[in-house]
Amino acid sequence: MPAFKELVFSGVQPTGNLHLGNYLGAIKRFVAMQAQYECLYCVVDLHAITVWQDPGELTRQIREVTAAFLAAGIDPARSVVFNQSQVPQHAELAWIFNCVARLGWLNRMTQFKEKAGKDRENASIGLYDYPVLMAADILAYRATHVPVGEDQKQHLELTRDIAQKFNNDFAGAIAEHGHGEAFFPLTEPLIGGPAARVMSLRDGTKKMSKSDPSDYSRINLTDDPDAIAQKVRKAKTDAEPLPSETAGLEKRPEADNLVGIFAALNDASREDVLREYGGAQFSAFKGALVDLAVAKLGPIGAEMKRLVADPGHIDAVLAEGAARAEAIAAPNIAAVKDIVGFVRRR
Ligand code: TYM
Repeated sequence: MPAFKELVFSGVQPTGNLHLGNYLGAIKRFVAMQAQYECLYCVVDLHAITVWQDPGELTRQIREVTAAFLAAGIDPARSVVFNQSQVPQHAELAWIFNCVARLGWLNRMTQFKEKAGKDRENASIGLYDYPVLMAADILAYRATHVPVGEDQKQHLELTRDIAQKFNNDFAGAIAEHGHGEAFFPLTEPLIGGPAARVMSLRDGTKKMSKSDPSDYSRINLTDDPDAIAQKVRKAKTDAEPLPSETAGLEKRPEADNLVGIFAALNDASREDVLREYGGAQFSAFKGALVDLAVAKLGPIGAEMKRLVADPGHIDAVLAEGAARAEAIAAPNIAAVKDIVGFVRRR
């Protein structure tokens, strides 16, 4: 595999409340990656419409996710911040990848099965095809690294399969057009840290999710300090004090989750947290967690509110980001079309 220029890409759907899982598993890590990499962060509105979205609400959510990116510390002067539908190359490459990906590969996707549920026949074709568009998002930029939460692992494996098959199927044309042995990198997922899978505050065996009917299951980025405090205090726990070693968190999903959240918010490890709070009762630990969560999330929520009050500014950031994104994607997609054998407009 030839060396590809290091580039980070990731995306977040503008569908409902952003929560602590989105922040700790993804957005907070996006911010940190800016120091080391050239990064593109995308509000994936084409993905959002794979399930019905009220149009006015979708517009609002696109701006809100953009505001969350900026409020969390993504610097739009450095990183490329944009929404997917403004860059036509995503949908264009997705079509070509539809003809590379195999039905059998998509049939294995667990997220489709979960989201479509029992009413599979009534799911949109877009929902089924969702992971192919995701591969196009990443590979339109030939991105080498993708920070995501654990739940996206299977989709990133599919992205690698598509890249590999394209590289193999078109090996001759790729070489002929001067791109060497491979046109697409085999993108590396970056899944990690203490909060790669943040769980529901009501049930430590279920993922924290936008679609959970109970708002007490999650902390939203826009929750005020009172709401954060109430949700943490009501979070499910068990009867034992915290252990001193991480081994003691096994089979204690709620304790493990709260310790993981504390660690991620504090840029620490579970070991660090237990060194300080091992032996503590949940009442004391939850008090410290409320203080920490309010200190870290409060300013982000407040800044998001300030930013969404000025949609003109957000839209300008997105427009500038889209132009920069397209400048990277357009030559890549033009090269893909040559490789596939299409005739270019001259
Ligand atoms: P989405 O919008 O569902 O979630 C955005 C990011 O948040 C992470 N995440 C979590 N991390 C830890 N614990 C949780 N409980 C939790 N819930 C969500 C997700 O893993 C994700 O990183 N398919 C993607 C969006 C996407 C994308 C892409 C991502 C579209 N194209 C290309 C990367 C690259 C999604 O639905 O994320």
